[in-house]
Amino acid sequence: MNTDTLKMRPRRLAMALSFAAAVAIVASAGSAHASDPAAGKTQFQRQCATCHIDTAEGARRLGPTMFGIVGRKTGAVEGFRYTEANRNAGWVWTPEKLDEYLKNPRASIPGTNMAFAGVRSDKDRADLVSYLATLK
Ligand code: HEC
Repeated sequence: MNTDTLKMRPRRLAMALSFAAAVAIVASAGSAHASDPAAGKTQFQRQCATCHIDTAEGARRLGPTMFGIVGRKTGAVEGFRYTEANRNAGWVWTPEKLDEYLKNPRASIPGTNMAFAGVRSDKDRADLVSYLATLK
């Protein structure tokens, strides 16, 4: 080993370590805030798909299709027999409204007949809503 290598080493190590630390910080910041549409799809299949399809075409289930839900008015799927409560709720489905509704559907739209208690976990709802936003 010559003296040059000895002098270089600590600096290289320090650079490598601070790079690794920076990557770790960026990664953790990402996971704290970003919602995950792939995880949301799994949630959808587990919790919603018995009653909702997620495609434009396809046999209707108990509830209306979720295709195009973000940006759609409440109760707007042609030919689906909504309750008056859902049809007349009178807002456009934004990610924020979906989050509020999915937390507690019957508090959000009193009188809805969607037989679903709600999604407790903030993370699961964020993932679900990010998946719903891809359906267009
Ligand atoms: C047991 C069946 C069932 C399950 C499970 C269910 N829903 Fe529903 N959903 C319905 C029905 C029925 C309606 C229509 C409600 C009405 O007319 O009052 C509805 C309405 C909705 C609406 C309003 C649609 C519109 O066009 O205004 C959204 C959004 C929605 N559901 C999302 C979900 C999501 C997301 C899940 C899973 C986390 C879910 N639902 C689980 C049956 C269900």
